[in-house]
This record gives sequence, structure tokens and C-alpha cells, in this order.
Amino acid sequence: MTSPTGAELRRGPFTAGERVQLTDPKGRMHTIALAPGKQFHTHRGYLAHDDLIGAPDGSTIKNTAGVEYLALRPLLADYVMSMPRGAAVIYPKDASQIVMMADMFPGAVVVEAGVGSGALSMSLLRAVGETGRLHSFERREDFAEIAKANAREYFGADHPAWTVTVGDLVEALPRTVENGSIDRVVLDMLAPWECLDVVADALAPGGVLLCYVATATQLSKVAEAMRDADLFTEPQAWETLVRGWHLEGLAVRPQHRMHGHTGFLITTRRLAPGVTPPLRKRRPGKGYVTGEEATEQDWTPEAIGERVPSDKRVRRVVRSVTDTSPLA
Ligand SMILES: C[S@@+](CC[C@H](N)C(=O)[O-])C[C@H]1O[C@@H](n2cnc3c(N)ncnc32)[C@H](O)[C@@H]1O
Repeated sequence: MTSPTGAELRRGPFTAGERVQLTDPKGRMHTIALAPGKQFHTHRGYLAHDDLIGAPDGSTIKNTAGVEYLALRPLLADYVMSMPRGAAVIYPKDASQIVMMADMFPGAVVVEAGVGSGALSMSLLRAVGETGRLHSFERREDFAEIAKANAREYFGADHPAWTVTVGDLVEALPRTVENGSIDRVVLDMLAPWECLDVVADALAPGGVLLCYVATATQLSKVAEAMRDADLFTEPQAWETLVRGWHLEGLAVRPQHRMHGHTGFLITTRRLAPGVTPPLRKRRPGKGYVTGEEATEQDWTPEAIGERVPSDKRVRRVVRSVTDTSPLA
């Protein structure tokens, strides 16, 4: 039985051509591509790549000045953070959420746009595997090239389940896939609401749509567009904050620095044809009109879901804070 694409590169001794992550005694990391006869130099000595080629993953190696390095094969989470980038990547903390919460499964047929640098594509390819299919769309040809090169380097070959189409999703998706044939869709782009019609056509009943957006204004706009389409379930949105911990002796505490914000995730599911959404908590507030379209009148407390206290209640509070009569 042949192993899944790239699996043989994730185990066994280090081989020429692959990337290895070196960590020095101060925790500084360097990524090198192993090449026979080459050396890795720092201001304190050098080490020969040949000493690492053939060594097991997780080895330590000393350079000519006696500095010891830990050598490890990068995990996918390490790789996506250090690979060449065109567009900003989806960070591992969000990619892992997407794989779980959009319910990626081996054999799934998935649509993704845009591809950007290909970081999310790699997680999706690992999840759907050889028996699945990932149709990725990217309107910038140069970004698509970067993404394909990154994935090729990571998997050691072009992944057989992956097709990358250069073009705008709105035009390219209907040409590429059959209506109702797609299990999952992930959109990471500026204006996902512009793609909802073609996504709704492509998705199978019950299929999951997940959008990753960077700002609250995008989140609001795509949520209301999902509701207005009348083709999807009530959307759910969230963000994740991951705070690493510092572990040293008695100093066991959260790290001082963290990525405070990456993006928001919002999911919904395609209803069966002809079905209208059963659960509609309330009509969208006018407050979702943003930018130049928004007027002063749109920004009412009701529109942003604020509870307005009754005049009676406010009078009671005013009395309670201004009442200077002596205590009985
Ligand atoms: C932030 S990047 C995606 C990053 C990618 N998810 C990753 O993890 O590396 C957003 C990309 O979407 C592309 N894009 C925006 N709108 C698009 C559309 N309608 N169709 C196809 N690609 C689009 C942009 O060119 C850009 O490369």
C-alpha cells in the first residue's frame, strides 16, 4: 500500500533537500534546507549539513565552537509560519478550528477561495486526503504560483487531490463544479458576501460554509448577507484567543506576548432546496449598514442590540444617586 502524499517526508532519518529546524541553547530557531557539502554558519562556529543527513529526527548536533543545536523536522504549523508569503496566511490556531468546525473529512469535496499563500490549503488537503478533492480559487496568478510552490515543497509533489484555478470565485466556480456537488466551502477574502449566490448553488444540502474575516465590519456584513439569502441556517460566529504559557521553574504563568487578534470565523449550513430558514431570531437591524451608506439614524441603540432602559427606571436611578436625605 502506498503512503498518503507527503507522509514519507514526515518520518525517518533526515534526507538531503529537506528542511530542518535548528534550535540553539537560547531557544533561537533557524530553518535550513539540507544540502550535501554545505555548512550552516553563525557568528559562533558552523556545522556541516552532512552531519545531519542520515541522523534521526530529534537529534542534537554540536557546531565547531561546541554550541549544541536540537534538530527537528518542522511540523505543518511551523512550516506555514516560515514559508514564503504573498498574502497573509491563516494562522495554525484558526486553520485547526476550520478543519474541525467546518467538519472536513477524508474524501470530502471542498471549495476554497482565495488561496493566498496556500497555508490553509495544506491543512485542507491533509484533512480531505487523496480520496477527497480541494478546488481552490485565487484571482491573483502570482499568489497561486507561490501557494502551489509552498504546497509542493511541503508534500514533496503536487498533491493529487488539489486543483488551483486562477480567477474570481464568482465567475470561475459555476464553470468548475456542478451545482449541489460540494460538501464544504471556506472563504478567506475581503468580500465573501459577494460570493454567497454561487456558493449556495455549489453546496450540497446540509453542506457547510465557513468564512474567515479580519474585521467586525466584515463579520456583520457577511452575517446579514447569509440571513438575507434565505438559503442558509442561522450563522454562528466566534474567535479564538490562544495564550501560550511560560514554563520555567517556579515561573509558570501566561506568556507576556500573544497574538491578540487574527480573525473571526463564521459558519452556516446550506438548507435543502425550497426550504426557508426555520429560525429567525429577529430581523437584521438597520445598524448593519456601514461605511458611506450608514446615516446617523441607522446607529440607534436598538439597531446594535442595546437594551434601552425605561424613563421610569432612569428616574429611579437618578433619584437613588442624588438622594441626600439622611439615612433612617
Ligand atoms: C488573505 S488571502 C488568503 C490566505 C490563505 N487563506 C492562506 O492561508 O494562505 C486572501 C486572498 O483572496 C484572494 N481573493 C479575494 N477575493 C477573491 C475572489 N472573489 N476570488 C478569488 N480570490 C479572491 C486575494 O487575491 C488574496 O490572495
